[in-house]
Amino acid sequence: MIKEITERHSIRKYKEEAVNKEDIKKIIEAAILAPSAKNRQPWKYIVFEGASKDQVLDIMEKGLVRERDEHQTLPESHGGLPDAFNTLRIMKEAPVLIMVENTNGQSPFEPISADDRITEICDTLSIGASIQNLLLAATELGYGTLWIANTCFAYKELSDFLGIKGQLIGAVSLGLPDESPNPRPRKNLDEIVEFR
Ligand SMILES: Cc1cc2nc3c(=O)[nH]c(=O)nc-3n(C[C@H](O)[C@H](O)[C@H](O)COP(=O)(O)O)c2cc1C
Repeated sequence: MIKEITERHSIRKYKEEAVNKEDIKKIIEAAILAPSAKNRQPWKYIVFEGASKDQVLDIMEKGLVRERDEHQTLPESHGGLPDAFNTLRIMKEAPVLIMVENTNGQSPFEPISADDRITEICDTLSIGASIQNLLLAATELGYGTLWIANTCFAYKELSDFLGIKGQLIGAVSLGLPDESPNPRPRKNLDEIVEFR
């Protein structure tokens, strides 16, 4: 497992080859073995390939363009839009797109109580653990992945289109890698660990 943890890197260039459905299922089976707060398992994975992937990414593109040109739902994050368009390009290239829903969540544009925020934090952490399992299982099977949060700029368009009743967490692109990027820098242990 340390091998997959070390070898996993975000992949932003993919080969065209489709991914075997059995492998997609194996990867998601690893995802659902993650721990979750109160064992709520608040995740749902929606897999898109081919024309259905193109359709959902067209919707995302509409949302990004709307966010750029008209109504800014995330005004303070406007500077992140060029990166979001770049992420969209990568998502189009990857043969598989997995959208991730927090089935227990609500739209981030709705007000939230402190109690619900705590629950949401726990559910988000649970889904993060599940996504990491997914990435590591994909790495073990020789696939590349990209964890994506840039869906947030098209939150309304995507959640309407997908019929999300909970909260759209983000997405993962999956496919055979067509690059082997160098590891991104990490903070030193001394910087982030405190032994008391
Ligand atoms: C919650 C989350 C959201 C991310 N969203 C994006 C994204 O929208 N687009 C992108 O290109 N990378 C995205 N990434 C990938 C990070 O940029 C990447 O993990 C980080 O730079 C470290 O590189 P590595 O994954 O190769 O170790 C995201 C990663 C996480 C954990």
